[in-house]
Amino acid sequence: MFFISGALYYTANGDSFRYIVTAALPYVNNVPHLGHLISTLLPADVYSRFLKLQGNEVVYICGTDEYGTTTEIAALKQGITPKELTDKYYAIDREAFDRMDCKPDIFSRTSDPAHTRLVQSFYESVKKNGYSYKKNIEQLYCDRDQRFLPDRFVEGTCPHCGFEQAKGDQCESCGKVLRPTELIKPRCTICGTTPHVRKEEHVFFALSKLQDKLYKFVGAQTHWFPSSRNFALSWIKEGLEDIDIQRDIKWGVPIPEAGSTGVFYSWFDAPLGYVTFTEQLGKGSWWHDSKTRLVHFIGKDNIAFHTMFFPGMLIAAGDNYVLPWMVASYEFLNWEGGEKFSKSRGVGLTVPDANQLYPADYWRYYLLSILTEKKDANFSWEDFQAKINTELNDTLGNFLQRTLVFTQNSFGGKVPTPGELTAADKSALLAIDTAFEKVSKHLGDIELKSALEEVMGLARTGNQYLQAEAPWKNKERSNTIIYVSLNVASALSVLLAPFLPSTSEKMRGYLGAKPVRDWEDAKERVKAGRAIGKPEPLFKKIEAKEIAEYRKKYAGVPEAKAEKKKPEKK
Ligand code: MF3
Ligand code: ZN
Repeated sequence: MFFISGALYYTANGDSFRYIVTAALPYVNNVPHLGHLISTLLPADVYSRFLKLQGNEVVYICGTDEYGTTTEIAALKQGITPKELTDKYYAIDREAFDRMDCKPDIFSRTSDPAHTRLVQSFYESVKKNGYSYKKNIEQLYCDRDQRFLPDRFVEGTCPHCGFEQAKGDQCESCGKVLRPTELIKPRCTICGTTPHVRKEEHVFFALSKLQDKLYKFVGAQTHWFPSSRNFALSWIKEGLEDIDIQRDIKWGVPIPEAGSTGVFYSWFDAPLGYVTFTEQLGKGSWWHDSKTRLVHFIGKDNIAFHTMFFPGMLIAAGDNYVLPWMVASYEFLNWEGGEKFSKSRGVGLTVPDANQLYPADYWRYYLLSILTEKKDANFSWEDFQAKINTELNDTLGNFLQRTLVFTQNSFGGKVPTPGELTAADKSALLAIDTAFEKVSKHLGDIELKSALEEVMGLARTGNQYLQAEAPWKNKERSNTIIYVSLNVASALSVLLAPFLPSTSEKMRGYLGAKPVRDWEDAKERVKAGRAIGKPEPLFKKIEAKEIAEYRKKYAGVPEAKAEKKKPEKK
């Protein structure tokens, strides 16, 4: 079935599509926080649930991005192997996202041998097509550890701002991107000794050759999130540079011909995880099918990789790979007063911690209601409490509860037969169809925040209708009023399904209906005589004292804050 709605959906000839929906693969060197959830797995989850309910063929792909210097260093620091480290965090990530009801069709790992094979053969195609070459570069080498020191394996003084703990790939103080050889007074991160410069041949990806193709491709994607498209266009205009895709570390996908220590740069292998994991689901051919719509959900710091680097790789490999049909990129989530989440300083909330505090739908609702579509957002405990209490509990929860209790008490738990409909009844029923259209259009256009606002608008309409018609005072019309209210509640149970899956399922249970299978069920009328279940409150109010406690607990440690003070910018 194919449902036409929203600008992105419209196709003149009514063709239907297959969807590969991806959420950026989280790194597995620490515990994910709410910022990761809001920009990747959560929106991807809502969108793919919606597409599936519409009857589209969809795979939702995610897993962990395990390779790279950051992982290897984190493991060294903890005195364990990268494998042990990633095993540990893979399990944590998987469970944390699962409890948030983010349910990719596969949650795999880039350390899987199937991924190694795929990346190596992909590289062979890139090479065969003339998009890779070797070049001598200067690198830092530590004699004591007998290894090259890429990226974060070396620290030193930033040549731009003088910060003494700048890393080999970037200075955290001034934000400038660095090459290890640019650092003043470099030291090996592992042993602290001074490395020296050594020349070595590295494999490069000839991204510059794709300059014109990528400019044309990105230029034509006028339906992308403007932030993704504008960012890419201005970057490409400045000129694309070839990329060093080799790292001389052990933890990565070996480059077949580079000798024993060469592995691929993690940004070369990680996005190919999307392809590997799709193959693991038996749907690998979708990557070469012009009917496929490839949709990426990412944080804004990943835009360059998903709009230029990865599409460039896909073009270079040939083989009719599909290019992204949509790059949905999200801004950052800040903590309370606008601070950055920081694990080391204890600022902000991790996903596993959030799971301990409240049910998934509380978080899903709040995060989607402040979704960082166009600008950064702040997590605020007060706002969280207010939204859960007034919107979820007082509006949605109370409306359902009062309707169901009245059905139990006055109609023996069965949907009553309506009498003649008044204008108020008709307009409440009409609100269902209007909401259905609007929510479908917003979801189709990946405007998830507006979509959820429309759903809550219908809940408010239902609540106001019930309040105004007051079946408890208006006995002779109560059958009709309850009939109409149950219909609004039933529509809500469908429209909420992509956003709040477990609330939707509970509501369906109370309404005597099966879990939602088809999006169009939102417009189906509830039949008189259907037995309704015994309701229990959907939500519980959050008390002021809970919020006060958590605000303190997750505000960070002041001493640690002071100790991390950075030098003044020049
Ligand atoms: N691990 C990266 C990050 O968290 C995202 C990788 S996305 C992929 O920033 F495309 F490479 F998979
Ligand atoms: Zn600097």
